[in-house]
Amino acid sequence: MGLFDLRPKSRREDLFDRERELSELYRGVERGYPVVIVLGVRRIGKTSILRVFLNEVDGVYIDMRGIVRRSDLEVRLTDSLTSSLGRLRRFLEGIRGVEISGLSLEIRWRGRDSVSLAGLLTEVNRKGGRFVVVLDEVQSVRPPLSAELRNLIAYTYDNLENITFILAGSEVGLLRDFLGYEEPKSPLYGRAVYEVVVERFSKEESREFLMRGFREEGVSPPPEVIDEAINFFDGIVGWLVLFGRRYVDGFRDVGIVKNMAVELAVEELSKLSPRERMVLKAVASGCKSWSQVRRFITEKYGLTIPNATLTRLINKLEKLSIIKNYDFQDPVYREAAKKIT
Ligand SMILES: Nc1ncnc2c1ncn2[C@@H]1O[C@H](COP(=O)(O)OP(=O)(O)OP(=O)(O)O)[C@@H](O)[C@H]1O
Ligand SMILES: [Mg+2]
Repeated sequence: MGLFDLRPKSRREDLFDRERELSELYRGVERGYPVVIVLGVRRIGKTSILRVFLNEVDGVYIDMRGIVRRSDLEVRLTDSLTSSLGRLRRFLEGIRGVEISGLSLEIRWRGRDSVSLAGLLTEVNRKGGRFVVVLDEVQSVRPPLSAELRNLIAYTYDNLENITFILAGSEVGLLRDFLGYEEPKSPLYGRAVYEVVVERFSKEESREFLMRGFREEGVSPPPEVIDEAINFFDGIVGWLVLFGRRYVDGFRDVGIVKNMAVELAVEELSKLSPRERMVLKAVASGCKSWSQVRRFITEKYGLTIPNATLTRLINKLEKLSIIKNYDFQDPVYREAAKKIT
């Protein structure tokens, strides 16, 4: 493992900096906040921070992407508990419906002598000692599971003082909507939530990151290559890692590596609806206001979108953390938006 490893990091020595974020996580959890949220755009390093944190405190990490039904969640939770069974054993011993033998774990979720998700958390809470449940990309969960999850979190909030949920997501607005703590109908309405925001690296930090990574690999690119990467990737660590890795692997042309990144972003943006893509094109072409976007789309596509629709599209793109104040959060996506059709 090293800085330029493409997988999320899980050991502190592989993690560059993030001291502030980690100490904020410690603070939130130690103060007994029932819910902590970790926010940050794609590739900023959320998962790495959470995995490192969970290496140091007791709990489970669950990637919520692709989880559709409760049974998917039950499978992933069981796997996650199993993978740290050595450390978590004391939280699980003696619970009805939970069978531990050696390094394997069996949980009976339904039928006789079974335990529900809420029941399991209740029992874990009883053992004493803080237990953390990390749900990564939780905003991707759809109804009805999302509602069930909100209820479970609200129940934990009110009753299980030793359990902390850490919820993370790259689509910041959607994550807030998921929680609904500003939505009177949500079971989490009005609850205090501790926020940790993961920020991009400064130019100096980006430089230090690349220098250290290249040193580890025994490669020393010319200064202008480093400068170009620092400027283009704008402190987003996932891109810096991709750049470093590719460069070390022999792609010595920064232009080509930049293109690889842009192509990845193009692929992601192509999943958006045609109208959302039109709005992105408008913003990528420099439109700085609602009316400029509207005029751009009318001129370029011969299509005038209703007021309310345009407002909704812009809100959605903001909630996805792609744009903010009519600019891209990540310059790679600006270049990608110029290319999509
Ligand atoms: N502090 C760090 N030091 C070194 N490498 C890092 C650091 N943070 C993230 N990385 C690397 O950057 C890439 C993206 O990191 P990670 O997956 O943790 O980000 P993320 O915010 O969870 O991204 P996504 O939104 O895509 O889930 C990975 O290759 C990871 O190894
Ligand atoms: Mg992640």
